[in-house]
Amino acid sequence: MFLKKATKKWEAFVNVQKLLLPEGDFRLLFEKAPLLWSEEEKCKGLVLAVKSMLYGFLFHMKVTEAFYKKGEQNMISHNMKKLIEKSAGISALFTEAKRMKQQYGPENVYDFGIGNPNVKAPESINKTAIEILQREESLLLHGYTDTVGYAEVRKKIANHLNRRFDTDFAEDNIVMTVGAAGGLNVIFKVLLNPEEEVLTFAPFFSEYSAYAMNAGAVLNAVAPNLETFLPDLTALEESITEKTKIVLINSPNNPTGVVYDESIIAEIGCILEEKQKEYGTSIYLVADEPYRELVYDGAEVPYVPHYYKNTIVAYSFSKSLSLPGDRIGYLVLPSELEDFEQIRQGAEVATRVLGFVNAPALQQRVVAECCDELTDVAFYDANRELLYTALQSYGYECIKPQGAFYLFVKALEADDNAFCQKAKEYRLLLTPATGFGCPGYVRIAYCVSRQTIEKALPAFEALKKYYEADTYGSVDA
Ligand SMILES: Cc1ncc(COP(=O)(O)O)c(C=O)c1O
Repeated sequence: MFLKKATKKWEAFVNVQKLLLPEGDFRLLFEKAPLLWSEEEKCKGLVLAVKSMLYGFLFHMKVTEAFYKKGEQNMISHNMKKLIEKSAGISALFTEAKRMKQQYGPENVYDFGIGNPNVKAPESINKTAIEILQREESLLLHGYTDTVGYAEVRKKIANHLNRRFDTDFAEDNIVMTVGAAGGLNVIFKVLLNPEEEVLTFAPFFSEYSAYAMNAGAVLNAVAPNLETFLPDLTALEESITEKTKIVLINSPNNPTGVVYDESIIAEIGCILEEKQKEYGTSIYLVADEPYRELVYDGAEVPYVPHYYKNTIVAYSFSKSLSLPGDRIGYLVLPSELEDFEQIRQGAEVATRVLGFVNAPALQQRVVAECCDELTDVAFYDANRELLYTALQSYGYECIKPQGAFYLFVKALEADDNAFCQKAKEYRLLLTPATGFGCPGYVRIAYCVSRQTIEKALPAFEALKKYYEADTYGSVDA
């Protein structure tokens, strides 16, 4: 900056000298100026030189001021502006929920807004954490771990998966992450070039598009099958292009609760094999599985790496062990992946450059000890039965979920945001599904206390009656 300023000033000075030296050869400055100039010219030259320096300085100040003024207008990035605008509805919902809970008392507001488990973490979690805190040497306990996680932790996770899924993973196939969100951001960062595409099925977890954007890429979604909410595989086939780098699936699904069976996973694998051949590209299947263990009615969740070679699994303990605040999960990178070694190295670098550095150290050790534990799936199942049966009897339209802890319900008017506003009048806090890529629906997170559901049922019934009443007009409007 200083050099630029100095150069400008020198140029201004030289220009003044040029005016005074019509020959234009400013080399004369050094040799002959003192001889050529009269006293008067020297004075004029000096005044002009000082003036030009002053103007140069003022010009510099103006440019700086304009720069900062512009900065003020664009204090945050364009993308962040868009994200804030997109989140406005959800933020408003949170603020409103807080206000309502203060006004009516938390027990009188039926908050089905977010997927925060109401089942406590297994007792062994706290016990193990305390044991580790007491026995481990402080520097080791609180120091950085390997960027991809402690080797012994990754080994334990690999063995746990091998026992469950008959795989042969080793520690190098596991990357410990900051929840599923961290894992997805890591793998997107590793794989995606700008303008490449992540393809998923609507409705989808609303943060996916932001994760793709973080990697400079875009998220596109195959339109939902509104009958079953299962993936439309013909549409998938038609939607894949040479820009599709990742196909992202989530089963058991947030927000619908559907579970993809073996035939669906196998078919997705076949389609991706075909498309890789057709375009001569690599297409990675990323399976986002924070709800793997939360299934009902004996539903099975196939282990996706068995069906397609280029599969990466993003797993999290947020829901399966009720540890969402502990931010702990892992990525599975099977050795069969094309470019396995580079992807593994990329994941190591990505954890660092994204700023995670390593997953929380204590929680890595805790989950390594407790990964065979199970949450109280029966509790969620009972909530599911109670809510689903009641809503059906009141006349709401929804499929019976087989997994996760969400009901996906058709809104009683076309505008899901307006419907959620109306529901608030009945102290029901629901999430509009426009953000999940499926307008006209709402998500009800039933990972709440039984009492909340029991107390909320009359409110759901009253809300339905409101829409049926003549005062509202046609429900199909
Ligand atoms: C489908 C899905 N993927 C990823 C996440 C992020 O999970 P985590 O809390 O482990 O980062 C969530 C959280 O609700 C989710 O529902």
